[in-house]
Amino acid sequence: MQRLTLASRPHGSLTTEHFAIEEVASPTAADAALLLRPRFISVDPYMRTRMQAQGYGYIRRWEPGSVLSGYTAAEVVASRHPDWAAGDWAIGHLPMQELLAHDGNGLRHAPSGEPPLAWLHPLGMTGFTAWLGMSLLGQPRPQDCVLVSAAAGAVGSIAAQLAREAGARVIVSAGREDKRAWLRGLGFDTVLDHRAPDFGEHLQRVAPEGLTLDFENVGGRAFAAAIDAMRSGGRVIVCGLISQYQSPRPRQAPANLAWLGERGVAVIPFVAPDYGDRFEAFLRDMSPRVASGRIHWRLDMVQGGLEAIPSALIGLFEGDNLGKRVVAL
Ligand SMILES: NC(=O)c1ccc[n+]([C@@H]2O[C@H](COP(=O)([O-])OP(=O)(O)OC[C@H]3O[C@@H](n4cnc5c(N)ncnc54)[C@H](OP(=O)(O)O)[C@@H]3O)[C@@H](O)[C@H]2O)c1
Repeated sequence: MQRLTLASRPHGSLTTEHFAIEEVASPTAADAALLLRPRFISVDPYMRTRMQAQGYGYIRRWEPGSVLSGYTAAEVVASRHPDWAAGDWAIGHLPMQELLAHDGNGLRHAPSGEPPLAWLHPLGMTGFTAWLGMSLLGQPRPQDCVLVSAAAGAVGSIAAQLAREAGARVIVSAGREDKRAWLRGLGFDTVLDHRAPDFGEHLQRVAPEGLTLDFENVGGRAFAAAIDAMRSGGRVIVCGLISQYQSPRPRQAPANLAWLGERGVAVIPFVAPDYGDRFEAFLRDMSPRVASGRIHWRLDMVQGGLEAIPSALIGLFEGDNLGKRVVAL
């Protein structure tokens, strides 16, 4: 059986050389109450932060030799657990390996039948993050002018729709034309390119009275442009700063950050693991919206199993993905 490990710690851009596939003995049904076969594994930007030598203390660091892990939809192959039967779908944060023995703790049931892919996106960690940042912390109102960067990605696409459902005016950005076309297809009429050198000028043009809410996913120059565009009394939800994660100094703030203080803009950083007690409330709120199709979601499914995970993850930092990237095993 194969599993995916971190071969060495990256200093700078992640390459496939930083990963290794190991051959180990397969677990058997006798090893634990459940034998699981991972079928779909989510790849996410935070995985790069787990490889940093320091910082990002909200999640356990990966060391060279660590088996990687991720949010996974797994099939139950065999069960001696009263709550689980062979053929069930289990959702959990699981090691990246072809087969695994598990005691059932921390696993969530997903409905039987279709692969439970919604549980890896709008009803999973990325949907939860969007809901926390936008609905719980950002609390958009009809009078708001909201910017969501990286809005053709997993968190951004859901966050932008939640702001629009709340009645706010929503400006979205994405770094590639097909992504911007997809966002226009979802009905967003102000779609910018946060990678363009003149992003700041475009922002000022489409929001001359300023932004009242920035849902920040990108960081760096794009964040600096959003800061310049903030209206007094607004709020910045710091969801993520992906443009910084490959940098040897990944926590650098834009040089104009202090302006937010002068303008009385609230800066609200958050990490989803701090809000675990809100997950059930999130599911109650989000499930009907997803079931009715009111929230659109798109997967970026990569085939190829464990071997495909390194390049699928690296691609997130190159903007390869449109929608939520998941690897099929
Ligand atoms: N606070 C939390 O608990 C939490 C939880 C989950 C995710 N997050 C954060 O949310 C953000 C989005 O995550 P996601 O999972 O939804 O990923 P995603 O948006 O599906 O994929 C990442 C996207 O980021 C953009 N990007 C990557 N590198 C960039 C760079 N150097 N400059 C500008 N844009 C870049 C690309 O979009 P373009 O092609 O459009 O540029 C890329 O497609 C990330 O910052 C992530 O860390 C935070």
